[in-house]
Amino acid sequence: MNVHKTHQELRASIEEFKAQGKVIALVPTMGALHEGHMSLIKAAKGQADIVVCSIFVNPTQFAEGEDFTTYPRDEAKDIAILLDNGADIVYIPSVEEMYPEREEITEPPIKNGDILEGEFRPHFFRGVGIVVTKLLHQCAPDKAFFGQKDYQQLSVIKQMVKSLGVPVEIIGCPTQREEDGLALSSRNNYLSVWERKIAPELHKIMQEMAEEYRQGTPVEIVCEKGKRKLLAAGFAKVDYLRFCDSQTLLPEIKSSARLLAAAWLGTTRLIDNIEV
Ligand code: PAJ
Repeated sequence: MNVHKTHQELRASIEEFKAQGKVIALVPTMGALHEGHMSLIKAAKGQADIVVCSIFVNPTQFAEGEDFTTYPRDEAKDIAILLDNGADIVYIPSVEEMYPEREEITEPPIKNGDILEGEFRPHFFRGVGIVVTKLLHQCAPDKAFFGQKDYQQLSVIKQMVKSLGVPVEIIGCPTQREEDGLALSSRNNYLSVWERKIAPELHKIMQEMAEEYRQGTPVEIVCEKGKRKLLAAGFAKVDYLRFCDSQTLLPEIKSSARLLAAAWLGTTRLIDNIEV
């Protein structure tokens, strides 16, 4: 497995594989790797010859006061995990490598980046859009793999790639969960023992909400009740708990519905989403 720190090294290595006719897959991550990330590596291995995993805690997607400095980082452990799981290339650029110029591309072409997550983290999708564009440019993969755990991110990236005409296939992979239903996330590391016990309630309550929705209970009543249950379970605050169209993410449901949620457990913000 090759570990590259610069985009020139990465590109040289990829050019060599491309010359041999290999299909290249990219799995972008921020590290602190878990089974959710590994499911993307596995899917990528099944659909490509060479799997590149990038590890970069991207400063532009964190706002002032968010967890950029405390975000879990363990490069040696991540490299060992990737080696175990058969990744071919690891790309670990520095902040200077990814952002060499002070003046940066300002606005990636992002649609619906101001709803749901974007309403509560207005800077977020701009930062994700910039870094994913850079990674796709540097790696030039045939396919790139993202998790449905971050459903809106996946949707924004698909639309951005289409808008920019990037020649890459974006592939979404199902959310991996703990046995008790909690979606795997690097941020679960922040939960105290007590909070970890409460955390699966988010997924459980969302499933109950989906069932009520399917039975025809009006959306407002389902959402109000779901929010009350979350607060009663010990969540400190609910940013959003909404049924949206699975394609447009807008409240008007034209295709199928998707339930998306973000809620705070102490100082940890959990997000989840399920098909309805
Ligand atoms: P990160 O949170 O490290 O996630 C990297 C990828 O793993 C994302 O595509 C995410 O959706 C996927 N993932 C995380 N938890 C998952 C789970 N439980 N099941 C399935 N997939 C899961 O998302 C980011 O990093 C960043 O925003 C990034 C796209 C790398 C841009 O900086």
